[in-house]
Amino acid sequence: MKILAIETSCDETAMALLKCGGSLQSPKCEVLENIVASQIAIHRPFGGVVPNLAKREHLKNLPKIYAQLKKKRKNLEKEIDVIAVTVGPGLEPALWTGITFAEALAERIKKPLVGANHMEGHLYSSWLPRVVESKKLKVKNSRKHPQSSISKKTLQPATFNLQPKISFPAIALVVSGGHTILLHMTAINKWTNLGETLDDAAGEAFDKVARILGLPYPGGPEIQKAAAHGDPKAITFPRPMLNKKNYEFSFSGLKTSVLYFMRDNPTAEKADVAASFQQAVIDVLTKKTMRAVREFGAKTVLLCGGVSANKPLQESLRVESRKLKANFVCPDFQFNTDNAAMIGIAAYIDMLQKKKPLPMKAQGNLSI
Ligand code: KG4
Ligand code: ZN
Repeated sequence: MKILAIETSCDETAMALLKCGGSLQSPKCEVLENIVASQIAIHRPFGGVVPNLAKREHLKNLPKIYAQLKKKRKNLEKEIDVIAVTVGPGLEPALWTGITFAEALAERIKKPLVGANHMEGHLYSSWLPRVVESKKLKVKNSRKHPQSSISKKTLQPATFNLQPKISFPAIALVVSGGHTILLHMTAINKWTNLGETLDDAAGEAFDKVARILGLPYPGGPEIQKAAAHGDPKAITFPRPMLNKKNYEFSFSGLKTSVLYFMRDNPTAEKADVAASFQQAVIDVLTKKTMRAVREFGAKTVLLCGGVSANKPLQESLRVESRKLKANFVCPDFQFNTDNAAMIGIAAYIDMLQKKKPLPMKAQGNLSI
């Protein structure tokens, strides 16, 4: 089944075409096309996303991206079996642009339309195939990997699509600009929410601390870059909720500590502040996730959402998961932050379950 997926919940206008098959136990989705038009440059002067500007840009970008897809795939409209669109959570004026565009398209090309949950999209991005450079892949068994009969030289520019190995129970840490959620999963479609943030989301804390340090929006990648030159032990910022025996998070106090520290130490080395702040976030996220891994005997740890692009966070979870003999899975970089491929796979997994369709209505606070 080919799914055209549309995502406009925040500041990325994205469209993807996926070829999905397989069962709920082992879904397989090939990402045939994946286009993301970022609005970062437009929102940057305002230090964050301006909903009405986002809406205006989505309205401009949607037909352009669709035209680009049609130019690339002459039979696009015949290929599409289903259209999927994000209905929430997110900024409602932004969500409506995607919904309205998808409704008009579905009507015109006479294809079914389904709604998808953005946070389920982030979660299911863990099931998208990894693209591994062939030179990094050691191919031993030629029967298992028919490509291995090709000479090494021809393999160099090629890529392999690897399905991630996800065994249950699994613990999923979903960390984005608006959410910080820890889930205990017993199957692809069965989970319990162990805890969420009580105030700021992890990504929001990165964005706010970046602003305090005079770094541009979005703050996450900027903090990571600055932190690479700093000492994570230079300043001991608080690790909120670290020793509380629950799975709730809180990042607002940590952000305030950085604010007071900068007020009292205006000449402090920014790289050290960034590294020390980042380390505090990583310590809390890692410790709480690992506590859940131990409690539930998890076989897999999933890290997804925009903050999952953070390399030191990935490394910390990878190392600690290995110690507990759990497999660590994090999507490819292109699927960490907002994209439409994840919306396509979320819609596919909903369809496999014959879930009650989500209404075609923007739902800013839709929960996972
Ligand atoms: O998932 P996402 O693209 O959008 C939402 O659904 O919110 O997440 C965006 C968030 C932003 O707060 C951004 O600063 C953060 O993800 N982010 C990062 C990194 N890249 C993006 N945070 C930490 N380190 C990064 N490398
Ligand atoms: Zn997102």
